Amino acid sequence: MAVLPIIKLGHPGLRKVANPVEEITPEIRELAGNMIDTMRVNDGIGLAAPQVNILKRMFVIDLELIEEELAPQAYLNPEILEIEGQEKMEEGCLSIPDVRGDVVRPFQIRVRYQDLDGQTREEVMDDLLARVFQHELDHLNGVLFIDKLPVIQRKLLEPRLKQIREAFSLL
Ligand code: NI
Repeated sequence: MAVLPIIKLGHPGLRKVANPVEEITPEIRELAGNMIDTMRVNDGIGLAAPQVNILKRMFVIDLELIEEELAPQAYLNPEILEIEGQEKMEEGCLSIPDVRGDVVRPFQIRVRYQDLDGQTREEVMDDLLARVFQHELDHLNGVLFIDKLPVIQRKLLEPRLKQIREAFSLL
């Protein structure tokens, strides 16, 4: 088990577009395991590779927090094929500590991704799982949930965001 450092708002790695996972090597499997450990230690429900400063198109979601019997899952090269509906839900992010905000996103999505065995899978997701999937997929494109907040809410959060940017640029 290895817990990886999570980069925070202000780190340029969070704003880059990640590269496809071309091959599922032992290193990729190890990374997925370490990302799951990192997510759990930090009480997150999802974690994307760019958040541990690795520009690969992969993320993990702790499905156990959504449905009890499920294990955490890694999603490689994820895509959204179809969207439906709309829902507002409060979000947070391990890279933006102590900030929460209401984000409007599609309620249901049809997705495609590869699992750690290299199998391509298609699934329909809704509600919380769809929410986390979309949030994590945004990370692979350098997009953060604060980018999607209404202008007024974003303005109100700005002092805290500035504090985070400054605190972590000193590290
Ligand atoms: Ni996040």
